[in-house]
Amino acid sequence: MTLVVTLDTSFDLLEGESLLEGLERTGHEVEYQCRSGYCGSCRTRLLAGEVRYLTEPLAYVSRNEVLPCCCVPVNTVQLEVMQTHEPEQPVLGEEFEPQTSLDFGK
Ligand code: FES
Repeated sequence: MTLVVTLDTSFDLLEGESLLEGLERTGHEVEYQCRSGYCGSCRTRLLAGEVRYLTEPLAYVSRNEVLPCCCVPVNTVQLEVMQTHEPEQPVLGEEFEPQTSLDFGK
């Protein structure tokens, strides 16, 4: 796991997760289209740290930018991204009544 620091929070990237997926999971909104390094829509400013590309991106990125859709951090990274909403939490027990007995239509 690698630490990702944004403008207002920090989180650990999960195993197998791209930087974009981690940002989305934690309530950050990053624009995207292709999610595979072609379009450059997800271009994000890298303030510190290094990333490794899972596939070589075709979109142009300058030295202080990354394409989070197709990379993972090599070490702790700091990104110029803001959290736009609370991370999604699983809702348990509010919508579903636990089944306490079986009714076979008797
Ligand atoms: S979403 Fe297209 S390059 Fe990242």
